[in-house]
Amino acid sequence: MQPKRRTAILISGRGSNMEALVAAAAAADYPAEIVLVLSNRPDAGGLATAAAHGIATRAIDHRPFGGDRAAHEAAVDAALRAAGVEIVCLAGYLRLLSPFLVGRWAGRMLNIHPSLLPAYKGLHTHERVLAAGETRHGCTVHLVNEDLDSGPILAQAEVPVLPGDTPETLAARVLTEEHRLYPEALREVASGPLPRVGGPV
Ligand code: GRF
Repeated sequence: MQPKRRTAILISGRGSNMEALVAAAAAADYPAEIVLVLSNRPDAGGLATAAAHGIATRAIDHRPFGGDRAAHEAAVDAALRAAGVEIVCLAGYLRLLSPFLVGRWAGRMLNIHPSLLPAYKGLHTHERVLAAGETRHGCTVHLVNEDLDSGPILAQAEVPVLPGDTPETLAARVLTEEHRLYPEALREVASGPLPRVGGPV
């Protein structure tokens, strides 16, 4: 068996998808290990959860960087490299990424999005799905490219929209699928060959 792929998870909030990945990675035969959970928000609830699982955590607050997105991303990238990270999973990481970071991790950076992409890119997907009267909804794991929620799709799961659904009930139904789907998608990526990490090392 090849060595487990060293994987970082980037979060901004509660980190329930992070926890699902951590739980999956605890299995002996899982091809990835979670070596770092990093947040741009020092108060992200998921940081404490990760620490409780014995995982290294880092907070790199974007606010002291002012509007200097490149400098913040350079600090994030340095932390990833220092930890020997091979794969990056975005899990509720609420920062738009510049071509710099996306390019560095091309083919090695995954994201989970709560919609059946390419439908409903961006925020507030559950509200928008309900407002449009859709009958089906779901979640997507995709590779990250330079355009928001637009990279190659790796896996999708569908749920029904039920009569009487609120954004909260719908979000909960989708989230259950997210927690199943993301570990599956990471398993696939971590099991295969990876492109070389871009940019000067
Ligand atoms: C999830 O719905 C995910 O699809 C979206 O942000 C939410 C993060 O939730 N990108 P959590 O922090 O993983 O609980």
